[in-house]
Amino acid sequence: MRFAVFASGNGSNFQAIAEATIQGEIPGELAVLFCDKKNAYAIERAKKLQIPAIAFSPQDFATKATYEAEILHLMEEEHVELIVLAGYMRIIGPTLLEGYKQRILNIHPALLPNFPGLTGIRDAFESGVHETGVTVHYVDAGVDSGPIIKQEKVLRHSEDTLASLEQKIHQVEHRIYPEVIAEVLQNIQSKEERKKV
Ligand code: GRF
Repeated sequence: MRFAVFASGNGSNFQAIAEATIQGEIPGELAVLFCDKKNAYAIERAKKLQIPAIAFSPQDFATKATYEAEILHLMEEEHVELIVLAGYMRIIGPTLLEGYKQRILNIHPALLPNFPGLTGIRDAFESGVHETGVTVHYVDAGVDSGPIIKQEKVLRHSEDTLASLEQKIHQVEHRIYPEVIAEVLQNIQSKEERKKV
């Protein structure tokens, strides 16, 4: 079963997912990395890992719908069955949501519904909570609002700095995202096999 990862920047989650796939921990094939930024560091990682990468940005298109239609076309051409957002800093619009119903995952660095948005780690840190964490969820039309698949807590100790908290959160992300992707792909596959019978 083929899947794609979408990223906009650093791509450390992409790398963890790619390595887990190469090591056989994810029962699928990482078909392509898609980036909405041509200079995303994730693309360098993809080159090193020999995973195909494609990048274009919404600015290259007249509307968001035509931008997403091009992505959809690419995904269909690559026979992608699951889209995995890993630091893809855009809201998914109706074109992609329609094309991949219940087939788009996202990871967020906080315990949703707390601290949604772009600065989840910082917001949790500054609010003074004693625990925050990581959430993997299906994507819907909202911001970090779809059905939750898995959450894991990360404790924030008094000696934690923003940087140390970030590091702990990323470590959890890199461990649990490959696990969840493996489970979701297995579920899709078993459902499809049941349909065939
Ligand atoms: C991660 O913290 C993820 O939860 C959030 O964006 C960040 C991406 O980091 N959605 P990276 O690009 O995978 O290093």
